Amino acid sequence: MKFLIILFFIHSPLIGHENTDLIDSKVVEERMTSMQKLNKLMSLANKKIKKSQLDDETVEIFSKIENIFIDYPSLFPDDSFQGVTKASTDIIDNRDVFNALANEHAINAGLAIESVKAEDIDQLKIYFNNLYSSCKSCHSRFRN
Ligand code: HEC
Repeated sequence: MKFLIILFFIHSPLIGHENTDLIDSKVVEERMTSMQKLNKLMSLANKKIKKSQLDDETVEIFSKIENIFIDYPSLFPDDSFQGVTKASTDIIDNRDVFNALANEHAINAGLAIESVKAEDIDQLKIYFNNLYSSCKSCHSRFRN
């Protein structure tokens, strides 16, 4: 019995530590994957625009972009700023600003969808450029 109790005390902090590490890195991995997907989707969208192909696939691309940014702010819990992440802890102190940037991105993606449906390439180019400039504005502030 004594032995079991000692074992418990030796192991529990370790297990606890491993668990939090697992949770942290999972959410970090998830947000990195979503940015990589975003990167690919942006270049796919760029190709579509260059070829003036405003079809269902283009709508699909922008709705994936929109969804990425609807979910994105939820992938930054307070305990996910250690290890491989490049996310700045500034996010914790300025969630309003961070969420607003993500939201702006989602809105622009939504407007891009409307432009595709209206077959308005000039409007689409404006929203697409807005999307590209918001990458930089968020990274320069919230990525180390
Ligand atoms: C709302 C803020 C925000 C916006 C907008 C944003 N990003 Fe990011 N991005 C981040 C943060 C924060 C990280 C770092 C995440 C981490 O390392 O945990 C990141 C990381 C990345 C990465 C690296 C992923 C990896 O494998 O580590 C790529 C690529 C990327 N972003 C592409 C883009 C592109 C392209 C856009 C615009 C179309 C964009 N991002 C818009 C916040 C943003």
